Amino acid sequence: VISRGPLDFFLKDLPLHDDGIYRGLIADNRSQNTEIEMRQNFANQEIDDYFSLIQKSHSVPVMDFEVRRFLREMPSEAIILDIGGCWGWHWRQIKEVRPDVRILIVDFVLQNLIHAKKILGDLVGKEVFLVHADATNLPFLSADSIGIGFDGVWTVQTLQHIPDFKSAVSELFRVLGPKGLFINYSLNIQPHMQFIYKLLKKKYHISGILNGEYFLDRASSSQKLVIESQFNSEVTERWTEFLFSPELLFFRPGIQSSVLGMLDTRFSNNIGFLKSLARQHSFECRKN
Ligand SMILES: C[S@@+](CC[C@H](N)C(=O)[O-])C[C@H]1O[C@@H](n2cnc3c(N)ncnc32)[C@H](O)[C@@H]1O
Repeated sequence: VISRGPLDFFLKDLPLHDDGIYRGLIADNRSQNTEIEMRQNFANQEIDDYFSLIQKSHSVPVMDFEVRRFLREMPSEAIILDIGGCWGWHWRQIKEVRPDVRILIVDFVLQNLIHAKKILGDLVGKEVFLVHADATNLPFLSADSIGIGFDGVWTVQTLQHIPDFKSAVSELFRVLGPKGLFINYSLNIQPHMQFIYKLLKKKYHISGILNGEYFLDRASSSQKLVIESQFNSEVTERWTEFLFSPELLFFRPGIQSSVLGMLDTRFSNNIGFLKSLARQHSFECRKN
C-alpha cells in the first residue's frame, strides 16, 4: 500500500472489519428504507456471472470510456470518492489505467460491497477501499475546514434515488477538495421511449416513487440549478448511452467489448447532439 497522507486521513477513524470493509454508517436513512430492503434482498443472492447482470442496467463499454475520461481529469495520486459504487466494477482496471489513483467506494448496502470484493479481488485495500456509509451522511470531515478533500466525486445512477437531491449535493460538496471535479450520471428523460411506453400502455416513470417501491428522479434542469448554486460555478451537461436500450431489450451494445458498444462511446457528447435519444444525462462541475 502506498502510504499517502490524505488517504490515511479519510480512513483512519473508520473501523476496518475482518471482511476488509470500513464501517462508516452513521444513522438510519429513513427516506430510502424500502430501497435499502429491496437492494439487500437482491444482494443476498449468490451471483456467479456479475457482468450478465450489470449489462442489464449499464453499458460496460460506455461507462469504461467515461471512467477513463474522468481519470484523465484527475491529478497525480488523486483520491476519488465513488458514491453508491455498489459492486465497484467501474474501477476493475484502475491499476492498469491509473496506478497512482486511489478510490473510495461508498455504498449503504453492505452486501453490495461484499460482491465488490469478488469483482475487484486484490485491488481491495490497495487501490480501492470499500466503505459502508450513506451518501447523505458521509463519514468524512469537511474539506474546507481541514484543507484535504477528494479530487473527484464520481456517482452513477445513485443520486437519482435520493429524495433530497439538494442535501446530497451539499454533502458531497462538503468533502470535495479545492478544484475537485464532480460528475453525476442519472437516467435521462427520453421522449421516444415515453411514446413507446404509451403505445404499450405502460407507465413511463419520470419522478417520484417508482411502482410504490423506491424513489427515482430522472435528470432535470432543476437538479442542474441545485448543482450550479451549490458550486457557484458552471455545470457542464453530458449525454451517454445512445444505442444501449435495455428498456427495449436491446442489451447487446452494453456487453463488454461489443462493437456496438464501442460505437456507442462515439455518440457520448456535451453539446446536446441527439440528446433526447440518450439514456443517461449527466452533470459535471468543478469546485472553485
Ligand atoms: C443503481 S445502483 C448503481 C450502482 C453503481 N453506481 C453502478 O454504476 O453500477 C445505486 C447504488 O447506490 C446505492 N445507494 C443508493 N442510495 C444511497 C445512499 N443514500 N447512500 C449510499 N449508497 C446509496 C445503492 O445501494 C446501489 O448500490
